[in-house]
Amino acid sequence: MSKVKTAYFCQNCGTKSLKWVGKCPSCGEWNTLVEEVLERNNGKTGGFSKARPVNKPRSVEELQIENTARIQVLDQELHRVLGGGIVPGSLVLFGGEPGIGKSTLMLQLALRQLNMSVLYVSGEESEEQLKMRVERVGMSNPRCFVLMETRMEQIIDQLEAEQPNLVIIDSIQTLHSSAVESSPGSISQVRECATQLLKYAKENATPVFLIGHITKEGTLAGPKVLEHMVDTVLQFEGDRQHIYRILRTTKNRFGSTNELGIYEMQGSGLREVSNPSEILIHTQSENLSGSAIAATMEGMRPMLIEIQALASTAVYGTPQRSTTGFDIRRLNMLLAVLEKRCGFRLGMKDVFLNIAGGIRIEDPAMDLAVVSAILSSSEDLSIPSTVCFAGEVGLSGEIRPVTRIDQRIHEAMKLGFKKIIISKYNKGIETKGLQIEVIAVGKIEEVIHELFG
Ligand code: TYD
Ligand code: MG
Repeated sequence: MSKVKTAYFCQNCGTKSLKWVGKCPSCGEWNTLVEEVLERNNGKTGGFSKARPVNKPRSVEELQIENTARIQVLDQELHRVLGGGIVPGSLVLFGGEPGIGKSTLMLQLALRQLNMSVLYVSGEESEEQLKMRVERVGMSNPRCFVLMETRMEQIIDQLEAEQPNLVIIDSIQTLHSSAVESSPGSISQVRECATQLLKYAKENATPVFLIGHITKEGTLAGPKVLEHMVDTVLQFEGDRQHIYRILRTTKNRFGSTNELGIYEMQGSGLREVSNPSEILIHTQSENLSGSAIAATMEGMRPMLIEIQALASTAVYGTPQRSTTGFDIRRLNMLLAVLEKRCGFRLGMKDVFLNIAGGIRIEDPAMDLAVVSAILSSSEDLSIPSTVCFAGEVGLSGEIRPVTRIDQRIHEAMKLGFKKIIISKYNKGIETKGLQIEVIAVGKIEEVIHELFG
């Protein structure tokens, strides 16, 4: 009697339901529930077997940290973002939009780790395409093997035969397992294949990287359901039109999620950007209005970036507001503050805001530079290129303190800035020995006075 256990899964959000329903109870989408095989009844029962060792509660003081040596990654950016190397047996999900450079980064990782054998499983590209990419990045590793395969069971067989030290799967959406009947890329396939790889990773103490495509809206269509299964979620971001890419982690069981890696896409692959400030600042010419430098922090790294604003009288009735790399709601809020608290008539102006380099940074300390850039453009008065800003703007026009101000000041000083404008509420700053003038302000009016007299 072969009894097959099935359940219904929402193809949109992965919710499980025992009965078919027209509308997903979780995400509210219609007609997304599909029947999936849970388990074939071949003697195995889903419950716990008696043979399993019994775990007893233990005091936290008795617990021990197993000293598993992490694998050193030669790519310093990736090494840091992973929390200091790869943990053996970890399952890492590497997500990003198509074409952002996921395959390139992973191939570079495989080719650079000369001290270990790497198996790169490609379900997306042909051998020729892969070879072309290898030649493009100009690296070679005799112990880097590639496998063109999409059948999960075959991949596991090969992994068991080859026993590589590191496995890269490109991509999880192309794999399919015979255990489930749905097509590759569906939630149940993605989940099933990831489960098998998770088992492999843990049993063999081999790290496995899973590449997963995410859509423009930022949902890892299939891979989203994997986020709770994997140890680390890495995300590759950036604008395909721009050359800079940001690698961040949104989940990391082995380190902080504050770290950030920056790469530059070149003709010969991705280059690590170890000093972000120097390149993110656009080579500025003097006397250009509408530009201000913000001393920001992304994760634990200070970096100085240029903010460009253009405020001009609206040609059509409704003024336009548009941003790249900055939250448009935040811009609207700042414009309202300028209008209401400082009496600038920006209501009838188009305002465009651009963060140089095409990267997206979420740091409230950028507010002051944003406001200054807008005012500079609106009044057509330039801000000296030796001045930078770090401060948040509150709803009543007050300049609020920001975190890690000392680090920001030092980074600005290192890059040769002469003045930094910060909030006067940032207390306890050590100014002795600084070769940069720290100007503390409490209100936007004071900033205007300081900049334009
Ligand atoms: P790819 O790694 O294929 O992206 P993904 O795997 O995330 O879909 O890289 C895509 C783009 O990167 C491709 O359009 C070309 C560009 N690229 C370079 O500019 N230089 C290079 O050396 C390589 C390999 C790719
Ligand atoms: Mg790819």
